[in-house]
Amino acid sequence: MRQQIDGISDAFLQKWDHQQRVAFVTGAGISQESGIQTYRGEGGMYDDEVAGDQVMDSLRYSSMKKNPNRTWRTIAGMCRQIGPAEPNAGHHAISRIEEKCRSFALLTQNVDGLHQLAGTQNTIDLHGDIRDLSCMECGEKVRLSPKEIARFSHSPKCVEHVIGSNCGGTLRPDVVLFEEMLPTKKLERVQREFYEEVPDVVICVGTSAQFAYIIEPIMLARGAGKLTVEINPERTALSSHVDHFIQAKAGDVLPQLAECL
Ligand code: OAD
Repeated sequence: MRQQIDGISDAFLQKWDHQQRVAFVTGAGISQESGIQTYRGEGGMYDDEVAGDQVMDSLRYSSMKKNPNRTWRTIAGMCRQIGPAEPNAGHHAISRIEEKCRSFALLTQNVDGLHQLAGTQNTIDLHGDIRDLSCMECGEKVRLSPKEIARFSHSPKCVEHVIGSNCGGTLRPDVVLFEEMLPTKKLERVQREFYEEVPDVVICVGTSAQFAYIIEPIMLARGAGKLTVEINPERTALSSHVDHFIQAKAGDVLPQLAECL
């Protein structure tokens, strides 16, 4: 007999089994309990009508080209939160679920690297990692700590003491900015993990589900008769389309799911 868990139905628990192919799709909400601001919703980076639009605008590729200092101010601000942040109970629970189940994949929109720090192996960080920088002129790459990036008050340059190359070009954060294409190799991994063999369970956590490439893997699983779950304190566009909407914080629910697998 499985134990009853708050907010999680028996119907779901009966199907929750380590023999299954489990996949997660995560967004900024899973890192909220690590002290990292979400983008949307109350207290999110885009929440304030005027300031929020400006932040969003600074994360466009065209803004990066026109006024890189502005983009870097936003990125440095994000790194001030990411630097001291640690993986929380939700990140750790997902990593334990990966260890326990037959097959596992995680698609995340987060650039904070906390899933990887929690030990999750098969992570597709589709929007990149904020620690990665590249030169817009010569293409040279470097990985810095969020604490180092947080100190940038202007856009960093391709000079020896930062990147090991010396072309003098402007460095950019190697994350997907608005107006940019998603990285092909990572999209191929999404194709393999979510489309070629559809997972038995797809659990969506802490995303406002704004993008088609986030919604589609969940809807595909639903259409194929697989189990779909959403964990979020707020309803989203997905909530009425999944089999089980669990209205709760990730850190409250995921450890219980890991426990009873
Ligand atoms: P959003 O900020 O849009 O949404 C965060 C979601 O997390 C909301 O639905 C919240 O209700 C939920 N949430 C908040 N606290 C939570 C908690 N403790 N547990 C579970 N859920 C919680 O974040 P994303 O959907 O990830 O892209 O945003 C998608 C993309 O939009 C980002 O990757 C970024 C942004 O613009 C780019 O910068 C290209």
